[in-house]
Amino acid sequence: MRELVEKINKLKKEKNAVILAHCYQPVEVDLVADYVGDSLHLSQVAADTDADIIVFAGVYFMAQTAKILSPDKKVLLPQIKAGCRMADMIDYERLLEFKSQNPDLPLVCYVNSTAEVKSVCDLCVTSSNAVRVVKSLNAEKILFVPDTYLGKWVEKQLGNIEIITYPGFCPTHLQIRPKDIENARKEHPKALVLAHPECHMAVSDMADYVGSTTGIMNYVAKSDNKSFIIATEQGVVDRLKRDYPDKEFYPVKDNIVCPNMKMTSLEDILNVLENETNEIHVDDEIAKKAVTCIDRMLEASK
Ligand code: 13P
Ligand code: SF4
Repeated sequence: MRELVEKINKLKKEKNAVILAHCYQPVEVDLVADYVGDSLHLSQVAADTDADIIVFAGVYFMAQTAKILSPDKKVLLPQIKAGCRMADMIDYERLLEFKSQNPDLPLVCYVNSTAEVKSVCDLCVTSSNAVRVVKSLNAEKILFVPDTYLGKWVEKQLGNIEIITYPGFCPTHLQIRPKDIENARKEHPKALVLAHPECHMAVSDMADYVGSTTGIMNYVAKSDNKSFIIATEQGVVDRLKRDYPDKEFYPVKDNIVCPNMKMTSLEDILNVLENETNEIHVDDEIAKKAVTCIDRMLEASK
């Protein structure tokens, strides 16, 4: 593995490339990553970088967002088939049909969506800024796609807005059931439960803290508690264990894994860097429209 890491790091320098890795990636990807984080953090880095090449170790919509934000850079996705099952639940036609039922309401999308979907929306959010960014709209009622659970969680946090949600969801997070939280709490009574807002509302309601990947990491950093039950993807558990060896972390149940996130290997990263393959392209017209809703989000989350 060391040889592979050295080769990647050497090529990275030669080609002025930057490697961004989402926290759900296999943990060894961090060995070559310049930035590791959640969707918001990585899109901010993608918007600001002066590298010539961005290798996005993540899933398709993340690389696509990076390309929209940095159209002059070459954006490479190590595994071109790594999609997001939630983002795939809504396409342009289904979005138009959803919008047509309430054409005058502001249309907000989760960043886990395609460029086509973003091109029709007024505003974009990630899980870490959704409450703040939706609040900035000062609206009484909005449409939200595609994650019904994130939308309903934001509605509950704000308390003064109605959010009509599209029935999309994350199959990985929906595997976590209230019974799993109950069982984990029985087994580890001193542990705090930290959950991602893509979880079912019944699960989020039972958690001590609900937040994005970075939110969960930051919560652990600040907490005096010594043990935590983690109700999100396994990559977060792996990184917390690595970064806080004096604390204890329990996955809420086995196998909470996003199969697409786990497709990337160090070999794939080397391959795209060497051959500059798997380049992401976004149609200019779509990108021009989509960038507005992403820029609004970045502005509102400063
Ligand atoms: P974050 O916004 O926490 O990075 O989440 C992205 C994601 O795809 C979660 O499933
Ligand atoms: Fe998409 Fe869920 Fe995977 Fe996140 S964990 S990338 S929402 S399928």
